[in-house]
Amino acid sequence: MAAHVAVPTALSEAAPFSVLVTRRLPHSAMRILSTSGLCEVQQWDSDESMPHAELLSRAPGIHAILCLLSDYIDKEVLDAAGPNLKVISTLSVGYDHIAIEECKKRNIRVGNTPDVLTDATAEITVALLLATARRLFEAAAEVKSGGWSTWKPMWMCGQGLSNSTVGIVGLGKIGCGVAERLKPFGVKKFLYCGRHPKPDKADRLGADFVPLPTLLAESDFVVLCCSLTPETAGMVNEDAFRKMKNSAIFINTSRGAMVDQDALYSALQEGQIAAAGLDVTTPEPLPTDHPLLSLKNCVVLPHIGSATVATRITMSILTAENILAGLRDQPMPAEVLLH
Ligand code: GLV
Repeated sequence: MAAHVAVPTALSEAAPFSVLVTRRLPHSAMRILSTSGLCEVQQWDSDESMPHAELLSRAPGIHAILCLLSDYIDKEVLDAAGPNLKVISTLSVGYDHIAIEECKKRNIRVGNTPDVLTDATAEITVALLLATARRLFEAAAEVKSGGWSTWKPMWMCGQGLSNSTVGIVGLGKIGCGVAERLKPFGVKKFLYCGRHPKPDKADRLGADFVPLPTLLAESDFVVLCCSLTPETAGMVNEDAFRKMKNSAIFINTSRGAMVDQDALYSALQEGQIAAAGLDVTTPEPLPTDHPLLSLKNCVVLPHIGSATVATRITMSILTAENILAGLRDQPMPAEVLLH
């Protein structure tokens, strides 16, 4: 790995706080921090991850950390930072990489980026679902490899959305966005499950609240849209795949750790389910020799759910604004409520 130094940017003499930014960010976000007059910024000026050891060595005395979902802000980092640490702002809606319980104990405020990435993430979920169900990557590979000999009646046939049942695990904002976008494709029925029913959203979409086993058994498409918590970790396991239809398409754009990947591999290889589309895996990046990558019926994307230019810039700005509000003891534009 090329060596990258953490560089201070645009220091203000009067700046009372120090902020650690763990990655190269769009200029608009850095400008918000560096022109605030509030903080001195140390940045890991690279597109690659700041090594954990570097994060630990930069942490002592820091007042705020602007991090990414690939940085583990664990107890060790919080201990290294010490009592100055007031705010952590992550460039993601998910915050499973942050030791939330520890933050709560230490009165450290946490900000994230909900809402602004809903459309982009719902969009990629639909794109991945269609690409997986209609075997787009597999078919395109056949064109390049010379496997396209002629038009054949049953060649490269996949599953369509018309008259289908779509099961959404977690009817939050992204889950709703997915259902809204899929509806015009002629879906017959939406099912959803989660901690509790969401009648307002569900009525609007015509979605039925069902237990997870029912959703798995009845859905043609099973779409994971919930967040990673101790309850959802490993939730999609061998038993879950066994309940799904042999023609089922499984899509995950949330977090890889909700899925038992060995069980997924077996389910795909043995024809227990038809195909899977994943934007998230464990680990990330998925090693290039991982068994899932050897399967034609598994599409894996490199965690690009929110990756539109506009969305990532908006997320970066929101992340910087969360830092400043936290340092000023003001309401953050998007704060994770630590009950
Ligand atoms: C992406 O996965 C996010 O949590 O924003």
